[in-house]
Amino acid sequence: MNTAIYGSIADCIGHTPIVELRDSLIPQGKRLFAKLEYYNPSFSIKDRTALGLVKAAIAAGKLGRGGTLIESTSGNLGKSLAMLGAVYGFHVIVVIDAKTSPTVIKWCEAYGAKLEMVQDTDENGGYQKTRVARVKELLEDYPGAIWPNQYDNEDNPDFHYSTTGEEVAELEVDAVVGSVSTGGHLCGISRKVKEKRPGTTVVACDVDGSAVFGGASHPYLVSGSGLSWRGKNTDLSVLDKLCILSDEEAISICHLLAKEHGLLFGGSSGLVVFGSLAWLKQSSIRSALAIIPDSGANYLDQIYNRPWLADHGIKILSRSELAERLRAGRVIDVKQCSSPERSALSSANVSVG
Ligand SMILES: Cc1ncc(COP(=O)(O)O)c(C=O)c1O
Repeated sequence: MNTAIYGSIADCIGHTPIVELRDSLIPQGKRLFAKLEYYNPSFSIKDRTALGLVKAAIAAGKLGRGGTLIESTSGNLGKSLAMLGAVYGFHVIVVIDAKTSPTVIKWCEAYGAKLEMVQDTDENGGYQKTRVARVKELLEDYPGAIWPNQYDNEDNPDFHYSTTGEEVAELEVDAVVGSVSTGGHLCGISRKVKEKRPGTTVVACDVDGSAVFGGASHPYLVSGSGLSWRGKNTDLSVLDKLCILSDEEAISICHLLAKEHGLLFGGSSGLVVFGSLAWLKQSSIRSALAIIPDSGANYLDQIYNRPWLADHGIKILSRSELAERLRAGRVIDVKQCSSPERSALSSANVSVG
């Protein structure tokens, strides 16, 4: 019998498929592969992060059946933790904000998690700092509860180093491209890939408005990627290149992939595909692997919803407009992230096209 039987849904996390993308935006003779992390049980790479954080907390004796875990998240980690709470029998309180997708909220509730919504923005117009402040208040209200702190807890990149990184390193490619919020998945993957395949370039992608790689922090639409500060888990020493792009570019790529390839990606995946295409075009590399964090199923009411797009002033760019945006210079050295080149990168998003 070849059918694998898993002990629980937690054992089904990981070992996601890779598909090759064939599109005329890929320079001739070059190859782009996509690792589909939405094949995890709650449809995002954060199942892996959640499993790493939970396993480490259980192993350290900090979390067990009947315990309480509190975390701040834009949504995906929340639903992954909520799922694992149901598997391992602990309570989950997820601190979300007004930007969290309604689908993700319903998902957390379905797994039995308690939700805390923050309404106030921080000084940069984002919610992440307000969410963390609320977590700290809740820890006082729930003595014995744990806060995994995905931003600074090394268990996050360490788990990706030993699991996701191993899977990624199996494929021989010239570049690995991913998005960054806590930095946990891409930096963990990068550490492993650089150990096993030292010649590989790692490209980080982020959205204009995030402050992870410097630049002014301001509100943006793409969920999951970015942060209004740089968490400890973003280790610049393992990232080589940087591509910053606009909401409009990321969302437009998502529409093209859905309509022409049947690939329903979330907005941060749009960043990663754009960054991969830009680096394939700008450099002499022959192949790239894009880490696709989640599915567009999370955002059917947002980035795939015409009235929502209109309300947020997003125009879907055509294939030729996207090709124009993939010009040289879109990818810079990560070392330049606090330099004038970085500022030029952001403003280029607004003025071109
Ligand atoms: C959809 C999506 N993309 C990208 C990221 C960034 O992942 P990381 O926090 O590992 O940097 C996240 C994290 O929440 C996410 O949910």
